[in-house]
Amino acid sequence: MWQVLIKISLLSLCCAAATVPGKPSSSVRHFPNDFLWGVGSSSYQIEGGWNADDKGESIWDYLTHQNPEKIVDQSNGDISADSYHQWRRDVQMVRELHVTSYRFSLSWPRIMPGGYMNQVSTAGIKYYSNLIDELLRYNITPMVTIYHWELPQRLQELGGWTNPEIIPVFQDYARLVLEMYGDRVKIWTTINEPWHVCEHGYGVDYMAPSYNFPGIPAYLCGHNLLKAHAEVVHMYRNEFQQRQGGRMGITLDTSWPEPRDPDSAEDREASERAMQFYVGWFGHPIFSKHGNYPKVMIERIRNLSKQQGFGARSRLPEFTMEEIHRIKGTSDFFGINSYTSNLVNSNGHNNTGKFPIPSFNHDMGVVESQAGVDWPGSGSVWLKVYPKGMYNLLMWIHREYNGPEIIVTENGVSDRGGLEDYARVDYYNLYLSAVLDAMEDGANVSGYIAWSLMDSYEWKAGYTEKFGLYHVDFNSPNRTRTPKISARVFSNICKTNSIDWSYRPTLNDEQLVVAARLPAESMEPNSASTLNWSLSLFLAILLAWHC
Ligand code: NOJ
Repeated sequence: MWQVLIKISLLSLCCAAATVPGKPSSSVRHFPNDFLWGVGSSSYQIEGGWNADDKGESIWDYLTHQNPEKIVDQSNGDISADSYHQWRRDVQMVRELHVTSYRFSLSWPRIMPGGYMNQVSTAGIKYYSNLIDELLRYNITPMVTIYHWELPQRLQELGGWTNPEIIPVFQDYARLVLEMYGDRVKIWTTINEPWHVCEHGYGVDYMAPSYNFPGIPAYLCGHNLLKAHAEVVHMYRNEFQQRQGGRMGITLDTSWPEPRDPDSAEDREASERAMQFYVGWFGHPIFSKHGNYPKVMIERIRNLSKQQGFGARSRLPEFTMEEIHRIKGTSDFFGINSYTSNLVNSNGHNNTGKFPIPSFNHDMGVVESQAGVDWPGSGSVWLKVYPKGMYNLLMWIHREYNGPEIIVTENGVSDRGGLEDYARVDYYNLYLSAVLDAMEDGANVSGYIAWSLMDSYEWKAGYTEKFGLYHVDFNSPNRTRTPKISARVFSNICKTNSIDWSYRPTLNDEQLVVAARLPAESMEPNSASTLNWSLSLFLAILLAWHC
């Protein structure tokens, strides 16, 4: 009788599991042998040592010290995971994960305290040099981001990315790091998430420097950022690449905009427009055949600027033909960060009501929302689990830019803590399956970097949202790191080059000791655990059935 019951449950659970978006049909799936596996972090989020040695102040030091009320838990990155001192342990973790690459970023004010080349910190240079050497000792490829949001505060006082002065100054900084580390670093990205840097930094009050000035400075930022990126890549190609033998690209970011009603032409158009505004803003000038901003951005912003009384000069600056050619093709691969999706529709024909005028959102004219979706949640309100969005995004990049080599430079999920992070295990299995689906359909994805190596400072969310494969005890002096269940699963994925849905380890002795000490709030449930629960039950029954 119990066998019949199990059979019935199994059947119904199979159906339930089949409705999980992206759930693969077979339980083990393989990646190509040369696939690049990695794990990521960024300087401000993990290093601490905010004023160690002669480090200068960054815009994040400034924001978190001047306006702690803007951070959910009023915290800052002064010590964070203390990687400035714990970097050897970090490399040990990277090794435990069996990844081939570690993506980390350089702190500009740690290397050049005031942003300019007149002052270079020997201690700062040495810190990254030691880290790179330690990685290479274990055959781990350093993947270095030159700019992951840590602008020297002094440069912000000149207007930061809105001032064209940033172009030669960024180039000087990049030249120094290429001279110092280029012999050992073979994968570079210039800038992490330009959209975030510009719109979240200058358009709204979200990321440092929190300008909260919609509709104008974000486009100035984007313009200078694209030129600065291109100058650095040209410099690398002309002076370093041949001798050093590395590659340099850029990392863009977006959520996937799923048309609210797939049968509505207007919603599909809104989705396409959102992609052009989020990815095309930076992607079109660099990766498209003809370069320049996407046509839809140029036209909409020009027309709206005119209507808004800005005269004939669009709020979106114009490139000269020479600049268009200079920027086009300046990336050896397409780095993409993505975590979630939104449902989108057009903001009506009048584009009124919802957004400040002028603003990036009003220029785009797209309403995004996750209301009403049944996608599992996470530790972050904005992040819901919809793996099909990753598939759609990779296929869009593949089609739009004529099959570039893509590296997923960030993907992962947050929770509120704990070591038994089966929801994260499910997330990685599901999203990696979606990546494989896209590869099978032609997308040229060569690598995947999980975010993040360890729990860290999650910007405005402080320490409340955890993305790590490793738990960090932020109350212990050494910031003790402990692998979560997901670390063991991700390690298995990298080691075997495959996703194995049946691999679900339980806490080992080391983890049990740490788990017993964790405060109750870190075990806060989130809706992702629903997915976790049904998959665990499904696998348990499957196992019982086989026995
Ligand atoms: C992208 C950013 O690059 C990273 O710094 C951040 O922690 C993750 N998104 C998660 O929000």
